[in-house]
Amino acid sequence: MIKQTELNDLTEINPELVEIPKTKAHEMAKKQREISVAEFFSRNRHLLGFDNKRKALLTTIKEAVDNSLDACEEARILPEINIQAIDMENDRFRIIVEDNGPGIIKSQIPKIFAKLLYGSKFFKLSQSRGQQGIGISASVMYGQLTTGRPAKITSKISPNEPAHYYELHIDTSKNKPRIIKEGIVEWNKEHGTKVELDIEASYLKGGQSIDEYIKQTAIINPHVTIIYTNPKAEQIIFARATDQLPREAKEIKPHPYGVELGRMIKMLKLTDSRTLQSFLTKEFSRVGSGTAKQICENAALLPNTKPGKLSMEMAEKLVQGIKKTKIISPPTDCISPITPDLIEKGLRKEINAEFYCSVTRPPSVYSGNPFVVEVGIAYGGNQPADKTVRLLRFANRVPLLYQQGAGAMFKSVVSTAWRNYGLQQSNGSLPVGPLTILVHIASVWVPFTSESKEAIAQYPEIIKEMKLALQEAGRKLGSYVKKKKRVGFELKKRSYIEKYISHVGEALKELVGLKDDEEKKIELLLKEILEEHRGKVELMEFDKERNKDFDEELALKHEKEGDDNE
Ligand SMILES: Nc1ncnc2c1ncn2[C@@H]1O[C@H](COP(=O)(O)OP(=O)(O)OP(=O)(O)O)[C@@H](O)[C@H]1O
Ligand SMILES: [Mg+2]
Repeated sequence: MIKQTELNDLTEINPELVEIPKTKAHEMAKKQREISVAEFFSRNRHLLGFDNKRKALLTTIKEAVDNSLDACEEARILPEINIQAIDMENDRFRIIVEDNGPGIIKSQIPKIFAKLLYGSKFFKLSQSRGQQGIGISASVMYGQLTTGRPAKITSKISPNEPAHYYELHIDTSKNKPRIIKEGIVEWNKEHGTKVELDIEASYLKGGQSIDEYIKQTAIINPHVTIIYTNPKAEQIIFARATDQLPREAKEIKPHPYGVELGRMIKMLKLTDSRTLQSFLTKEFSRVGSGTAKQICENAALLPNTKPGKLSMEMAEKLVQGIKKTKIISPPTDCISPITPDLIEKGLRKEINAEFYCSVTRPPSVYSGNPFVVEVGIAYGGNQPADKTVRLLRFANRVPLLYQQGAGAMFKSVVSTAWRNYGLQQSNGSLPVGPLTILVHIASVWVPFTSESKEAIAQYPEIIKEMKLALQEAGRKLGSYVKKKKRVGFELKKRSYIEKYISHVGEALKELVGLKDDEEKKIELLLKEILEEHRGKVELMEFDKERNKDFDEELALKHEKEGDDNE
């Protein structure tokens, strides 16, 4: 084979040899062509959460349900979602998800369901479950690849409009919808959307099942009613715990700190602002004319430069100038947290425990994107005391069931010192105890580690907030656990003393020759004294040691002494 360096020399001697690389390049050029995004993802379906049959069932339902909830909330409608997973045998399932949302206008239906990367959420910064514009069409494509069946969609936008029905395939080589059937159907519903997909899948119960996803969805969305029919044809109803819709998620403009060079160049091209200064004030949040001037000065650019005229170098200077300028953080009222009260309501509804607490942190910012972290805790009840705690992870009100060990939430939980709060924990692991820990992040852009949206990237700002929330909840839990241990300790002591009261009575009777009724009186008196102090011992000790860690060994020692004396 001729090396490139050699070729350079040879061509000077014998120009005919130029043909050699040209032919190869031509040969390669014949094979070089555009790859449709649908083609790409049909080969890399694992990137979208379709790596195995079990996960495919979850992903398909999740994409449809997340869309239904987003649409209902955007239209300010209390969601009522009907989910059916029908076992058609031989690993085939029919998934039907029906919502009471705003519906979809006729002309958009084919593109939404049969074109990858088509959606309404990618270009706007606001808190929603979907963000990429790929979720539901990927499910349609998966169904098509594994069963050959088209997606069946029914949608209606108002009682005065007919319901439109479509059967759709995706032309993967072009990433375009292919309409198999379309028409108008009778649908006894004011408005809403129904998605029906046949897919290859398998149904297993457990921590990563659709049942778990639906249960957790009900916990984190207490305003939602879900009617779920599982593949065993059992119907489960998750009734809403509140009629209060979450606060409306507001759209915000990007904050200058979060815009990298590539996006800046695109924004400069697309803007209709005539000057750099007006571009900065119009397209970004928190940039007034003073800040815009300051940015231009720090970037050594003139404020009246035409945005479209900025060269690559100038755009780079602009990004650097932004970094040098002090700009206040983005507004945070665009984030709609669940709030502590509703987190607790959700937990109480689905987890049988004896102690609940929750924390909503104040808003914070990573890469120019506002976010809020929330933590909920359910302790005791019938949860196993000798196993590692159950961690429930959520992003923008969506349960995350896969890749637990990979993201910021797991990292924050294992690096919190749970021993301070009365739980056992070995280094780098989840604590052990009868506990469920819920962690939620709400943001205008959730930084997932992949397109399948399974884990949160480990931004230091996010981990810091998560740890602060966990510590705050942990402290509340700690007081309860310690108090509970003391109460238990007092009860045990009390029962020993109670046991001895009759012996003391008898002994006194023998020693000082008491009469029967006197013995009874003394026993009663002793019992009264004991009763009078019920709870006080625990409170006194609790006050004394409030800031100290409870000394478990001491309690054990006391208990042992008690046993020996018996
Ligand atoms: N049930 C529905 N009711 C109303 N609109 C819907 C419904 N399902 C989907 N849409 C619209 O279709 C678009 C595309 O949905 P899709 O799930 O593909 O992407 P997305 O939700 O925007 O982002 P992601 O890929 O992260 O899920 C949504 O942005 C929304 O505008
Ligand atoms: Mg979606």
